[in-house]
Amino acid sequence: MRNLDQYNITQAVLARLAHTPDPRLKQIMTSLVQHLHAFAREVQLTEAEWMKGIEFLTATGHKCDQQRQEFILLSDTLGLSMLTVAMNNDKPAGCTEATVFGPFHVEGAPHYEHGDNVANGAAGEPCEVRGSVRGIQGEPIANAVIDVWQADAEGSYDVQRTDLDHAQGRGVLRSGADGRFHFQSVVAESYPIPDDGPVGDMLRATARHPWRPAHLHFMIKAPGYETLVTHVFRDGDAYLDSDAVFGVRQSLVADWVKQPDGTTTLDFDFVLNPVKKST
Ligand code: BEZ
Ligand code: FE
Repeated sequence: MRNLDQYNITQAVLARLAHTPDPRLKQIMTSLVQHLHAFAREVQLTEAEWMKGIEFLTATGHKCDQQRQEFILLSDTLGLSMLTVAMNNDKPAGCTEATVFGPFHVEGAPHYEHGDNVANGAAGEPCEVRGSVRGIQGEPIANAVIDVWQADAEGSYDVQRTDLDHAQGRGVLRSGADGRFHFQSVVAESYPIPDDGPVGDMLRATARHPWRPAHLHFMIKAPGYETLVTHVFRDGDAYLDSDAVFGVRQSLVADWVKQPDGTTTLDFDFVLNPVKKST
């Protein structure tokens, strides 16, 4: 095929994909090419703009290392991560909604007993977190693995700090026989996502802020139920309606309550979706 022009090049590329053996890969590649070409036509992409895009993606890759995943941050800030979560976690009413995983989960966090302090030295106002893990019929789920992680009062996760050699603000607990759990921690505060790379440049160029509303991350696993990846967001936070990564769902917003004795408590009950039985 020669002498391709702006009117027939899309068909030529699609024809080149026609023999892709994996049908799902063929579908994805075909759609990607169609949408990419349509995008370039719609905005009448110039060669200088094309090069700027290439440089942006190159810089995004260069910013990635073991601690930093700039491409996920890009996906998050473009709403692609949350779109993918929403499309793949359409749960029955009553189940706890899912939201973005984020880049700060760590496999193998310390294990704690009920009542322990997962802050483990993280700065912040002390609080107690109490809740339950149940199924959709209200049945308590015993022994669920509850993985929790959060930023400290300055908005830093332990893995972002170079001065720490131990886990802070994260831990793994198991629900009791009645499905309940409780632990000590610090009150979640809003924080900016890392914005010292190309994604930060993109946010500034589009007049966007990098802030996430205060939240506590949870990943809850139990046999027979779908794994739940979610947050509990702090009611009243100034960024609830402008989360930099579009992750807020009203059903996940809760109050950290100041009690008469001066302590602060958060109560939140999780409802897991049963795994569909294959017939
Ligand atoms: C987080 O909540 O930890 C997070 C999510 C997406 C991007 C950056 C941080
Ligand atoms: Fe977070």
